[in-house]
Amino acid sequence: MKVEFYGHVRQYHNIKTEIDGNLQQVLESSQYVMGPMLKRFESELAAYHGTKHAIGVGNGTDAIWLALMAMGIGPGDEVITHPNTFFATAEAIWIAGATAVFVDCCPKTKCICPDKIEAAVTARTKAIVPVHLYGQCADMPAIKKIAGQHNLRLIEDNAQGIGACGNGFKIAELSDATTTSFIIQKNLGTFGDGGAVATNDPKLDQRIRQLRNHGSSQRNVHSYGFNSRLDDLHAGVLSAKLKHIDEWNDLRRKWAGRLSAGLAGCGNLDLPVELPGYRHVYHLYVIETKRPEHRDDLLKFLNGNGIDAKTHYSIAIHQQAGFPWGKEARLAGSLANAEANAACCISLPMYPELTEDEVNYMIAKVKEWDQAHAATATGQPGAARQGQACSCCS
Ligand SMILES: Cc1ncc(COP(=O)(O)O)c(C=O)c1O
Repeated sequence: MKVEFYGHVRQYHNIKTEIDGNLQQVLESSQYVMGPMLKRFESELAAYHGTKHAIGVGNGTDAIWLALMAMGIGPGDEVITHPNTFFATAEAIWIAGATAVFVDCCPKTKCICPDKIEAAVTARTKAIVPVHLYGQCADMPAIKKIAGQHNLRLIEDNAQGIGACGNGFKIAELSDATTTSFIIQKNLGTFGDGGAVATNDPKLDQRIRQLRNHGSSQRNVHSYGFNSRLDDLHAGVLSAKLKHIDEWNDLRRKWAGRLSAGLAGCGNLDLPVELPGYRHVYHLYVIETKRPEHRDDLLKFLNGNGIDAKTHYSIAIHQQAGFPWGKEARLAGSLANAEANAACCISLPMYPELTEDEVNYMIAKVKEWDQAHAATATGQPGAARQGQACSCCS
């Protein structure tokens, strides 16, 4: 059996009429850039987030740096994030011209550890960019408290968590801006690149709209800006898909529950943690081998058996060759949890369109590998879970 890592084409076939209908509408409208479909999708997306505004931009990376620039954050300013995220989170901070400051993650959730943020704050700190990694919300109430005490702006990098929520809080509720990526593999993905910023702040909304469109909000009137717009064809795809996002996330949660129940007895593995009261939307279903030296062996075994498992992210940003490439960066204390996560992580295929047979096959193969390594099984947490439990995950 083969289990692919993505289910894009299956998803397209399931809602082909809705997507094709929207594409047709855009094609017949003759307005393909900044047209009515973009406007419609922006208002649907704002309603979904419960924010006053949403601005479609070129991709999820641009969404972050456009938000930073719109806040006036740039050279000389520090922005705090964590190093076990997709590279783009830090890249966007550098594109804005600011210094990326890396704080360790929680050993359980892999999101930024709120207990470690305060020690990283200096007089130059201007913002925090927590990532809702793998589809589970970072501890926003704790992060918001620190931001409030130090007068910092908050941007949620929600490329991976659309539709998730925390215990008593929603995404976009506690921050200045929330960014999203619509690259095809995301929970809400178009057939290509796309991104958005959601915000309640009318000034940010206006500034980002200008910046994404050559510094212009009126024909022939410009200030310094960029070209980073979400095309109407992509908006049409996303408008059709947004209607299904909750049901698709429910399916991801169902498959994640099956995998976790099936793999519960594996003594060489740690499984994803969903915090009480949180809605994890499993953009990625990431297991960790208890021993770093097992990771590549398990990955090879799964790939050799037709399961297209991958790693997210096997090299932490500060461990990439050449870091920081002449850009400004600071490591705030030990990053041991993030480094151990990089060494031990494996993502199993996870998407709503998986089948029972595929999920059962993944469980059987992972268990087969685990049983072949029964001699090293342990009831203790693995290398990536040994860090001190913090306030959000203890
Ligand atoms: C956490 C995170 N931030 C930012 C991005 C950047 O988004 P994009 O690829 O659309 O630029 C991604 C994904 O690609 C991501 O996973």
